[in-house]
Amino acid sequence: MRTVISRLILSKSSVPRINTMAVSRNGRYISTDSTKLDEPVKVEEAETVNVPPPPTEKLLVLGGNGFVGSHVCKEALDRGLSVSSLSRSGRSSIADSWASKVTWHQGNLLLPDSWQEALSGVTSVISCVGGFGSNSYMYKINGTANINAIRGAAEKGVKRFVYISAADFGLVNYILQGYYEGKRAAETELLTKFPYGGVILRPGFIYGTRSVGSMKIPLGVIGSPLEMVLQHAKPLNKLPLVGPLFASPVSVNAVAKVAVRAATDPVFPPGIIDIEGIQRYSQQKSK
Ligand SMILES: NC(=O)c1ccc[n+]([C@@H]2O[C@H](COP(=O)([O-])OP(=O)(O)OC[C@H]3O[C@@H](n4cnc5c(N)ncnc54)[C@H](OP(=O)(O)O)[C@@H]3O)[C@@H](O)[C@H]2O)c1
Repeated sequence: MRTVISRLILSKSSVPRINTMAVSRNGRYISTDSTKLDEPVKVEEAETVNVPPPPTEKLLVLGGNGFVGSHVCKEALDRGLSVSSLSRSGRSSIADSWASKVTWHQGNLLLPDSWQEALSGVTSVISCVGGFGSNSYMYKINGTANINAIRGAAEKGVKRFVYISAADFGLVNYILQGYYEGKRAAETELLTKFPYGGVILRPGFIYGTRSVGSMKIPLGVIGSPLEMVLQHAKPLNKLPLVGPLFASPVSVNAVAKVAVRAATDPVFPPGIIDIEGIQRYSQQKSK
């Protein structure tokens, strides 16, 4: 059987000679010279076979079935990337069609043997793993789990790693000590292991729609208007202790857009992106 690389739709006419090239199974080029055909042929139109190149960027989203992670997966698929996710529960319950295009891995970042395989062939990682609970649990999920992932990714030669951290909230940092200590420990590890390809996003409150099965839960009811108000109320940010609580919320779509760009754009600057940075980068036109 032959594989034709240039497909032409032909009809009878007076064009004297057309050469098309075909490739045989053994890779040799075969010339099909139209003068050898019984009747002259004319090219009526060339059928364009639009085959996108296979994605070379392979993105692993840690926590791809969570609120932020699911938006990151969707954004990455929209940008033509090959996307996989890893979390303790594995496959997402999200019923949207994009979810079937993600490769879902099940694994626990606190148990290294359960997830190393998911890193195979991966070029970039976005970690959306985090959570609340007791101080020691929060340190483990936000800190240790992500530190394990950062080390594993560095060992496997992953090029870029993006970590969804959290903004500083002054007084709240003290109440949620394990959460913030965990976040900052993971950040330090990322900047050490990925000095050129490590990006930390520090959003405040993230609003958007959380999908659970076929249900959509809007978390944007307060977030969106608050974002507008607080963007114009910068002086509140300067108040000690309560100031950071007035940090502007950002939309989950903005976080996802910036995270995917940071994970795939080789010239995206490494380091910490604060709330304003997330808003600014998300407003830039995608390339
Ligand atoms: N939502 C916000 O307003 C907000 C604001 C600032 C910062 N952030 C940060 O943004 C990140 C994402 O937040 P989110 O709201 O999307 O949280 P989320 O919905 O709870 O998602 C957390 C994800 O982490 C996975 N996960 C937890 N422990 C894991 C482990 N040991 N191994 C593998 N996967 C694990 C969870 O899946 P399984 O349960 O299936 O494992 C889930 O997919 C977090 O780091 C959070 O701190 C969120």
